[in-house]
Amino acid sequence: MQDRVFSPHSTNLFRQAGVGPGDHVLDVGCGTGATTRLLAELVGPAGSVLGIDNDPASLEVAEEHTRASGLSNVGYRAGDLTELVPGESFDAVAGRLVLLHLSDPAAALARLARCVRPGGLIVFQEISCSRVRAVPQIPAMLDWVGWMSMLSAYAGLDADIGEHLPAMFTRAGLADVNAVAVAVAVIGDSKSLVPRYLAQTLSSVGPLAVASGAATRQQIREFRERLLEEAADHGCVLYTQELTSVWARVEGDPRG
Ligand SMILES: C[S@@+](CC[C@H](N)C(=O)[O-])C[C@H]1O[C@@H](n2cnc3c(N)ncnc32)[C@H](O)[C@@H]1O
Repeated sequence: MQDRVFSPHSTNLFRQAGVGPGDHVLDVGCGTGATTRLLAELVGPAGSVLGIDNDPASLEVAEEHTRASGLSNVGYRAGDLTELVPGESFDAVAGRLVLLHLSDPAAALARLARCVRPGGLIVFQEISCSRVRAVPQIPAMLDWVGWMSMLSAYAGLDADIGEHLPAMFTRAGLADVNAVAVAVAVIGDSKSLVPRYLAQTLSSVGPLAVASGAATRQQIREFRERLLEEAADHGCVLYTQELTSVWARVEGDPRG
């Protein structure tokens, strides 16, 4: 569902960053291959995309979807992105919604920059959860943001990594850092994907939300109905997390 919400914007943002026909791209933390396939469309038959992930089950799904899509310029490999040995020199290293999962994303960025050829591109897209809101604001959305913030603090993760990413690029020794952020905004009714997506995001981290004391099982179960009810009562527009796309050209030998 995350992919259905963000993919059209991801494609535009990767294109804006400079991924284009003929590029050979490494997609780190590719998961089930949604980003890998959209990058493959961007680079076309003269280019290629290698997706890596440390979860073999996701890679099996990625392979299956890729076969069904008919794309022939995509490959997958199991591996830990923090242990990649610089050597293969890609035109671009890309990733979406992956740095959030790392204990030291800045160190990973510096290392990944060494897998890019001089003049090549490094581009990541990450979200900021505290940007989720309703206009006018309603308690359900304030709760969603509060719960996400509590559970990510409990798990030691940065739920707003998207907006911290430009500074992280700079700390990784990258120069001329560019950033653009987008959010999807919809009228908050049951036909829209966004209330379902926000409710599903919450359920997917439900055990952590409960363990951290952020929310109860019942609050999580009832969230979507409550959000729809409050949104209808106040005629709200609902905004998703911001997806921040950050990119830089790798010149010379970055730090790390
Ligand atoms: C939220 S998914 C994003 C998948 C895909 N990039 C997308 O946007 O659809 C994050 C992925 O990062 C992978 N991941 C997390 N840490 C990793 C690591 N150290 N090395 C490789 N993959 C990792 C997870 O297995 C998961 O598939």
